[in-house]
Amino acid sequence: MRKKFIAGNWKMYKTFEETLSFSEEFKKSELPEDVKVGLMVPYPYLDYMVKAFKDTKVLIGAQNIHFESEGAFTGEVSCKMLKSLGVTHAIIGHSERRQYFCETDDSVNLKLKAAFKDGIFPIFCVGENLTQREENDAFPVVEKQIRKGLYEIPEEYGRNLTIAYEPVWAIGTGVNATKEEANEMCSFIRNLLADIYGKETADEIIIQYGGSVKPENSKELLSMEDIDGALVGGASLKADTFLSIINYKKL
Ligand code: PGA
Repeated sequence: MRKKFIAGNWKMYKTFEETLSFSEEFKKSELPEDVKVGLMVPYPYLDYMVKAFKDTKVLIGAQNIHFESEGAFTGEVSCKMLKSLGVTHAIIGHSERRQYFCETDDSVNLKLKAAFKDGIFPIFCVGENLTQREENDAFPVVEKQIRKGLYEIPEEYGRNLTIAYEPVWAIGTGVNATKEEANEMCSFIRNLLADIYGKETADEIIIQYGGSVKPENSKELLSMEDIDGALVGGASLKADTFLSIINYKKL
């Protein structure tokens, strides 16, 4: 049985003071047993967050990594470094990195390989933009991102993947994909994973939906069969809003 996995992506938001007050508030709440919870935070706060949430079920992750373990790469951060801090997860291939930082399917593939090699669980992001959706290209675009991203990644690693389907047109726009649109793509991705890794493994892989997830739409999205969680941007910045999404069953 796949467990729901709801992760916050803070992007480049929050000062350290705001991080402290979020954590104080968030730590006070009891989290549901049957939901995995993660916070993907800016690099400078990782050490603090890992320590602050040490004895809790909250998983702490980064938002990007470099594909080498170490080297002369000024300004970059490796999985080996993250691992040494106790960080467990990292977002890889987010559309903002593809759009603004020249991330390609090939670099995403290298990063996924590096994450598995150095023991970091990746949240691998895929998704089409608005033109691609309007031109009926969404499925081939996502298929290419998945196949190239997972190129030569063996099944034993593949089973530990989390995939986030994030249509670019839904990110930060307030306009989410409908539950049917999101489920249709997540189910398409699961079939692709079955083709790559076999059905048994594909059935274990968590596929999240991301893009304007908020308390108002979380229950309907998360009730869909192939949507195993959410990657939440804007609505993860406030502890009470993010907690409502995590407790979507009570909404
Ligand atoms: P959003 O962002 O929830 O603010 O749309 C999601 C994401 O980019 O992961």
